Amino acid sequence: MKPLIVVNFKVYTESTGKNAVSLAQMCEKVHREKKADIIVVPSLLDLQHVRSHVKIPVFSQHVDIQDQGAFTGHIPAALLHEHKLDGSLINHSEHPLPLQQIVLAVQQAKKHKLKAIVCAPTITMIREILLHCKPDYIAYEPPELIGGNISITDAEPDLIEEAAEACTVPLLCGAGIKKSSDVKKALELGCAGILVASGVIKASNPEKVLRELCVW
Ligand code: G3P
Repeated sequence: MKPLIVVNFKVYTESTGKNAVSLAQMCEKVHREKKADIIVVPSLLDLQHVRSHVKIPVFSQHVDIQDQGAFTGHIPAALLHEHKLDGSLINHSEHPLPLQQIVLAVQQAKKHKLKAIVCAPTITMIREILLHCKPDYIAYEPPELIGGNISITDAEPDLIEEAAEACTVPLLCGAGIKKSSDVKKALELGCAGILVASGVIKASNPEKVLRELCVW
């Protein structure tokens, strides 16, 4: 399996509105040139616009457990599917859910043919999640390292290895990833890929950084 790079756009100025489309197009260009598997994860408000401009997988940053109906402000999996999106992040530490809702969100995603990447802040949480459901990927991201300058691969190599052993589905890791050596180390430690946000989005040259993250 080729390593996976998930670019979480969050809601940075540099990655929303018209910038969301140009960033996604840049990711698609790197995907073509480097033969890299890249998933883009734009803000909810930019999903449709991005979807209509790129062919690489587009995921939402969150999905709700409700079906379509009288649910104000919710994001049903059925609608994401209808808008030709490919999957969703679930339980990102900036949008955490109780365990029961994580399980139901994974069920909803599967029911509507969406891939599910479930984020987990700790190994204990990874084990708990996998006892109750089988997402397509687990993404291990210690919240205290997110958006910082210390890569998870430098700060917690032992925990990544432990997470890879605990994982019965492919493991991704993220937080503070900015350079090719971080990705190489993640793969060596047993990850199937990485998640990145600020390392690419806030870089002075996002395309150059993303190219460098494609280490294979
Ligand atoms: O979902 C990826 C994200 O939380 C990692 O953020 O800014 O540390 O790359 P960042």
